[in-house]
Amino acid sequence: MYKISLGDIMDIQKITSLCKRRGFVFQSSEIYGGYEATYDFGHLGAEMLRNLRNLWWTEFVTKQHNVVGLDSAIISHPRVWEASGHVESFADAMVEDTVTNKRYRADHVIEDFFAKNNLGSVSADGSTLEELDELIAKHNITSPEGNSLSKAKKFNNLVQVEIGTLEDAKSVAYLRGETCQPIFYNFNLVQETSRQKVPFGIAQIGKAFRNEIKVGPFFFRTREFEQMELEMYVHPADADAHFAKFKEWCMDWLKGLGISESKLRLRDQEFKERAHYNKVATDIEYEFPFGWKEFQGIHNRGDWDLTRHGEFSGKDLSYRDPVSGEVYIPHIVEYSIGLNRLMLVLLCDAYTEEGDRVVLKLHKDIAPYKAAVFPLVRNKEDITAKAQQVYKTLVAQGISVDWDDRGNIGKRYLSQDEIGTPKCITIDYTTLEDETVTIRDRDTAKQERVHISELTSLIC
Ligand code: GAP
Repeated sequence: MYKISLGDIMDIQKITSLCKRRGFVFQSSEIYGGYEATYDFGHLGAEMLRNLRNLWWTEFVTKQHNVVGLDSAIISHPRVWEASGHVESFADAMVEDTVTNKRYRADHVIEDFFAKNNLGSVSADGSTLEELDELIAKHNITSPEGNSLSKAKKFNNLVQVEIGTLEDAKSVAYLRGETCQPIFYNFNLVQETSRQKVPFGIAQIGKAFRNEIKVGPFFFRTREFEQMELEMYVHPADADAHFAKFKEWCMDWLKGLGISESKLRLRDQEFKERAHYNKVATDIEYEFPFGWKEFQGIHNRGDWDLTRHGEFSGKDLSYRDPVSGEVYIPHIVEYSIGLNRLMLVLLCDAYTEEGDRVVLKLHKDIAPYKAAVFPLVRNKEDITAKAQQVYKTLVAQGISVDWDDRGNIGKRYLSQDEIGTPKCITIDYTTLEDETVTIRDRDTAKQERVHISELTSLIC
């Protein structure tokens, strides 16, 4: 079992404070005292999320001849969530502190209790209510406040909303609990209109909502988050091969984002951990400052989704192979990753302290700013004018570039290092003579002199 040290706790606190101080992430509704487990992303966070969405879509949709996209409604027909099994089975086991009435996820309380009391390793995820009650009784497990716990009960994670214009005639609907369900109920429409043949995939990026009992740390687990999901429709006989390919493909893509290989691992889920729709599931985990945690899943969902939506809608969701004439329900191999959780992985992985500087060593394609432009001094009009010209030429090309003329150059470097800006460009007296500037690298702190005409290719 992973033990959390004081240093680890400080690391996540340092990242939390950096994110807030520099405008990556804010607690939602802060002026009202904040709202638990929801976050707003400031300019730097929004840029980082946008970069990640674009990189993901380019790799998994644009570059694939047999993957198409979808941007579906967040609220769908309530029957969708009955068909998907979420109304019945999308639930965590919960226990309540009998004194404070605070609610906890039963598996987390048990695992935390074991870790805190050096009782060795235990995995309670997926245990039945009876098994959880037995564990709690056997080890005299108490709430984090030291009080006795209620019996475990199921708590549904779907977020309900009421829809309708007449007060007494409102109907219950659900905010989507995962982005993939609209991909399933749109199977026929997308397949026919895009003229795709099995094997083919449908991808979507968008918000999902879950009434999580335990949230945090920071924005690791929230009630509103974004998912990036790719659902491949394959012949049943090919599902295992696609599953194996997804594992390799996803790991390669993550390594390409610069994530430390030693902090990434694949872990096959045990039977009891698997969601109701999964035949096989492998997690990709990252070693966060608070332990190894999953941030991506690769799932073989079999024919569960299309069969259930077929049954509940009364529509035929089978597929006829245009060459062999075989009619079958395609199996689904899924790749699902949380966008915000991926951002947290990247922030944790990039956070570095070197002497007096904090550096976010983000891959240049992910960094919120590609470069920052500085006039050497702010009180020489010709230097500031030239620097403004360089800055405006870069932003006019759609490149995300910051401008800074405060304080001295050293402080400006430190300020950009902390938000992960890969290059800093300084316009000085020599620039006025020969159109060259200094360009300083974030990771090596080395400077070189280059011609202004080279800047775009050097920073993109
Ligand atoms: N369609 C499959 C599915 O939704 P999941 O393992 O429940 O599978 C996929 O979720 C990913 O979504 C997770 O790996 C995680 O990155 C992200 N995720 C799930 N719940 C989350 C939450 N409460 N807060 C932030 N991200 C979450």
